[in-house]
Amino acid sequence: MPTLSIWYFRTAILFLIAGICVGLYMSITHQFEGTGAHAHINLLGWVTMSIFGIYYALNPAQAESRIARIQYMVYTLGILVMGPSLFLMLTGTTALEPVVAVSSLVTFAGVLLFAVILFTRKA
Ligand code: HEM
Repeated sequence: MPTLSIWYFRTAILFLIAGICVGLYMSITHQFEGTGAHAHINLLGWVTMSIFGIYYALNPAQAESRIARIQYMVYTLGILVMGPSLFLMLTGTTALEPVVAVSSLVTFAGVLLFAVILFTRKA
């Protein structure tokens, strides 16, 4: 399996652990304001990242490209900042809204880079 796939799966499992911790925290405290952050960390961090990892495992030649590594870094950075800042914003630290906005756009840039990778692949 390409190194990039392994890194995607390693990063994805860390986001799943973080997402579940947020879910358990909400369940234990009965405070559900952070639901949006929990859902995004799990779906963007665990589910989508795993799909990226599977794609590169199926297309190992593409995992070697520079743009694929850049895509991993941009996407990961986006969620790394977006997850915690979204949680804090939803639970009362509204001043973090600009951080959530910028990190959401960084995450989206990672998704757009993946679209470029998909549409420019040779055969
Ligand atoms: C042990 C693991 C998990 C726990 C303890 C947990 C806990 C929770 C809790 C307490 C809520 C809020 C429910 C409410 O507002 O009434 C929630 C919502 C949600 N969770 Fe989880 N969760 C877990 C795993 C996951 C995973 C793995 C995913 C996705 C891959 C996920 C996706 C969602 C989504 C999308 C919502 C929002 C549902 C809605 O608002 O209708 N959760 N979860």
